[in-house]
Amino acid sequence: MQLPDMARLLPWYEQNARKLPWRETRDPYCIWVSEIMLQQTRVEAVIPYYHRFLERLPDVCALADCPEDELMKLWEGLGYYSRVRNMQKAAKIIKQQYGGQFPRTFDEILALPGIGEYTAGAIASFAFDLPYPAVDGNVLRVTARLLAFGEDVLAPASKKQLTAAVAAAQPKERAACYNQAMIELGATVCLPNGVPKCESCPLADRCFARQKGMETALPVRKKAAPRRVEERTVLILRAGDRIALRQRPATGLLAGLYEPFAYLGKQTATQVTAMLGDCGIVPLRVTPLEEARHIFSHLEWHMVAFEVILDDENAATVCKNLDKTLFFAPGYEIDSTYALPSAYAAYRPYM
Ligand code: ADE
Repeated sequence: MQLPDMARLLPWYEQNARKLPWRETRDPYCIWVSEIMLQQTRVEAVIPYYHRFLERLPDVCALADCPEDELMKLWEGLGYYSRVRNMQKAAKIIKQQYGGQFPRTFDEILALPGIGEYTAGAIASFAFDLPYPAVDGNVLRVTARLLAFGEDVLAPASKKQLTAAVAAAQPKERAACYNQAMIELGATVCLPNGVPKCESCPLADRCFARQKGMETALPVRKKAAPRRVEERTVLILRAGDRIALRQRPATGLLAGLYEPFAYLGKQTATQVTAMLGDCGIVPLRVTPLEEARHIFSHLEWHMVAFEVILDDENAATVCKNLDKTLFFAPGYEIDSTYALPSAYAAYRPYM
């Protein structure tokens, strides 16, 4: 499989590239931060996170030494918290084994925790101009269309073939620009979900999918397994201006983040009051809040929620009888200190 003549790609990129902060640096650390953030969030949403993160943690050693709660707080809202935990693991390795200097070879970069082929290729090319491809979802789509590739693009064998085609077409002296251009074409022109802007594409007359009238049918992606649904009841336990929080377990979903008291199953206000009563807790008031959903990659939370108003004595009983890991914190500390996953965003106004 060979990509068509790509000569128009780089001039197109030079004319049309968006000005993005991570494209104005050659610092591998900054590029790494941006690429991990961009794996999960849209460009416009990443920009403020990127600046805030680098302001607080300007280099690898600052990341290596950052306290965990503060790190989670910097990542709050981005999701996939294991990614930033892996970044910190990698930062510690860079600090200890490389004296704080980011490694400069593809293989050393790839060996770091949380860095796969894509991210290693992005860092190696953008920071060091090394001729490695960086094939993310954008580039897979562009390539599958250029080649009219009809197999499932996410299958490992497909990815391998498409990556090989991208690598073979990469001009070795302009590795970084070529990778950025492929990403940019996918992000701004060769759009997903059946709406490519072929009229603006520098490669339209070379595109095999377009020649065959298949541009909206490609890429082929095998349907993902349906997500498991978990029904949950969330209690915003309030005493004055303080809210009950607990830290989630150190492993698994949303590890180490903070949350209000919540449990499996959907309950009514009457059931909640009875359950609290069984623990010796008599609320001043139990108010239903809106229902909310949160979608993770493999799981959906369908939530009902209640605001539970307590006096100080009953608040103390909550920490003793309902869940010993709960503690009461003033609302402003949730803003400043405790990272709360966006799964609970609907209930944040009540906290
Ligand atoms: N998505 C992933 N990497 C990117 C980059 N360097 N620029 C814009 N979007 C991206």
